[in-house]
Amino acid sequence: MYAYDEIDRTFLNERVSEFRDQVQRRLAGELTEDEFKSLRLMNGVYLQLHAYMFRVAIPYGTLSSRQLRRMAHVARKYDRGYGHFTTRQNIQYNWIKLAELPDAMEDLAEVGIHAIQTSGNCVRNVTTDQWAGVVPDEVEDPRVWAEVLRQYTTLHPEFSFLPRKFKIAITASDHDRAAIKVHDIGLRILRNDKGELGFEVLVGGGLGRTPFIGKIIKPFVHARDIISYVEAVLRVYNQYGRRDNIYKARIKILVHELGAEAFARDVETEWAQIRDSALLIDDAMVDDIRSRFSYPAYEKLSDTPDELKKADDPRFQAWLQNSVAPHKEPGYAIVTLSLKPVGGPPGDATAEQMDAIADLSDRYSFGELRVGHEQNLALPNVAKRDLPALWRALDKIGVATPNVNLVTDIIACPGLDYCSLANARSIPIAQELTRRFADHDLASMIGRLHVNISGCINACGHHHVGHIGILGVEKNGEEVYQITIGGRADEKAELGVLIGPAVKYAEVADVIEDIVEAYLALRARPDELFVDTVKRLGVEPFKERVYATR
Ligand code: HEM
Ligand code: SF4
Repeated sequence: MYAYDEIDRTFLNERVSEFRDQVQRRLAGELTEDEFKSLRLMNGVYLQLHAYMFRVAIPYGTLSSRQLRRMAHVARKYDRGYGHFTTRQNIQYNWIKLAELPDAMEDLAEVGIHAIQTSGNCVRNVTTDQWAGVVPDEVEDPRVWAEVLRQYTTLHPEFSFLPRKFKIAITASDHDRAAIKVHDIGLRILRNDKGELGFEVLVGGGLGRTPFIGKIIKPFVHARDIISYVEAVLRVYNQYGRRDNIYKARIKILVHELGAEAFARDVETEWAQIRDSALLIDDAMVDDIRSRFSYPAYEKLSDTPDELKKADDPRFQAWLQNSVAPHKEPGYAIVTLSLKPVGGPPGDATAEQMDAIADLSDRYSFGELRVGHEQNLALPNVAKRDLPALWRALDKIGVATPNVNLVTDIIACPGLDYCSLANARSIPIAQELTRRFADHDLASMIGRLHVNISGCINACGHHHVGHIGILGVEKNGEEVYQITIGGRADEKAELGVLIGPAVKYAEVADVIEDIVEAYLALRARPDELFVDTVKRLGVEPFKERVYATR
């Protein structure tokens, strides 16, 4: 966990009273909705199809049980009893009333939670690996650097009015769980030949209507220079980013238009001027931030406890295989809690579930929780001997579906059910697919397969990087869906390829079943992943299968 200091606490409280005043002026009619817009957007408040939506940050995806309990309280008291975990380590409340928003913010601020820079054209919540600090293979805890960047970018005056929003993600493991290649800046922590800590820097990744995979513009930036280097990138973007056209305003377009090499040269020129300034990072500052992250007092435990040897319930075994991952400490494990039950909207958790999960994290995970970009939660510090008892408790509250990374672990945006920009529904498609593939043996036989659904070209559901991507578009007043295959969001990130003409709403689930059946017939071995089969064979055989009868 990270402990905020007095400066952070004062800042959050001031922010709440400032927003309270702005809301009162809006309610009294002193501010028009248009005037209010830029003020609310600085506080994570959007206007959706049916109500205001409130997006709250979960910095680097780490939460305490107390914070989760408070999120449950906000869901219960000010919303409709549930919250929605998003793909960028945020939680969204979909039904919040404007008059009550300042109270909700105040309740969250008491536990150090806020919504600053979760919307607007600024640097958004810096995201990272949800398993940071507990995974065996990381170079160092990336949350330290996410926090360095959070402190530096929050309310930075020069970067409060960027041409467009700006998203940074950091990973410190070979396996990228933070999707750094589809972020405006992606940072990979590594050590150089001399053993010094630094970052590989990627720029210009992003999805939306013009998707790009980020390009490496600097293979190694020393850790002490990371603020000045990121500032140089932001300055070049701030100066040359397209402010005249919202669709061309993201940094990915600038990098594409200039070319990554020319963009990198501009950054070098800018960097040369600021590198040896006050932006040079002092080791003491990083050490202070490091010291604010606390780690549990792990016990020395057996890695193969009797409790596990005795647990032979096949449902438990299926969950153990699927949802439990290795921990850096022997005798401990990382447990993913699936928020993708059969027939449920992906990423939703009720207030009761949040409360129960908070209690379980106190009991079994040193009071700590994680939120990942796949819209699932995790308990990062579970003693292996406790796994059977924990599983029974998680199963009771409906978050032990053993489908992590399987075909029903779907990422979906709110789509037409909530979003004012949507062309088509996403959630009902996800629900239907979870029913079609509800059989666990079938889903595990299919293996790792990520389905991503967006209700419009803005790509909140990351459909371009889904192994199977589903994009809702509107054609002559009807919802139709374009299907892509072969995308991925990890260290080998790629954009999916369209398989053919769009299909109707009612046909989508059948088409996905056809694609999966084609894969099962085409894969070279049972352990050849769907994405690898597509990579080997291309889209043609899948296309043939889908359109042969349509
Ligand atoms: C319902 C309210 C929402 C609205 C109005 C909304 C709107 C947008 C818009 C306009 C963009 C494109 C911006 C651009 O390309 O410059 C975008 C991108 C994005 N949204 Fe949303 N969104 C909403 C909800 C969500 C939710 C619930 C999630 C997560 C589940 C989400 C995740 C994202 C992500 C990750 C991107 C970045 C895609 C990229 O450019 O790489 N959004 N959103
Ligand atoms: S992808 Fe489109 S429909 Fe889905 S949440 Fe984003 S803006 Fe709304």
